[in-house]
Amino acid sequence: MSKEELIAIAIDARKLSYSPYSKFAVGAAIKCKDGSIYVGANVENASYSLCMCAERNAIYSAMMDGKTCDDFESMAIVADTENVCSPCGACRQVLSELFPHDAPIYLANLHGDSMEATVDMLLPFAFSGEDL
Ligand code: THU
Repeated sequence: MSKEELIAIAIDARKLSYSPYSKFAVGAAIKCKDGSIYVGANVENASYSLCMCAERNAIYSAMMDGKTCDDFESMAIVADTENVCSPCGACRQVLSELFPHDAPIYLANLHGDSMEATVDMLLPFAFSGEDL
């Protein structure tokens, strides 16, 4: 599967977003080494701090199907932004624990722009369980 196909799946997943408060819909798609795909979209709540991001919904969905860090191959994240959509700090922290540090993460928007990043690029010098 190409990068463009994974981004297209994230664009589709974005349609599942429940974002009546921010009206900012985000979609994410994770491709696993076995070819399986897991998607996520952001889900908001009137109690704003309970909002859950697309990226975390995708990774938690994969984990609830038995997948672990070693199974993940790549990820795409999409929103209707002018530049590519960059994950929030909380998602970077979660990805740094649960997603391979050298795996491609495609940041994209709806206008065909994309860039490739990795967890190490997004969160250098991360806090981790090894620091505890
Ligand atoms: N959001 C995501 O889903 N992913 C990000 O990386 C950035 C922010 C969501 C959270 C909230 O529902 C909305 O976008 C506005 O912040």
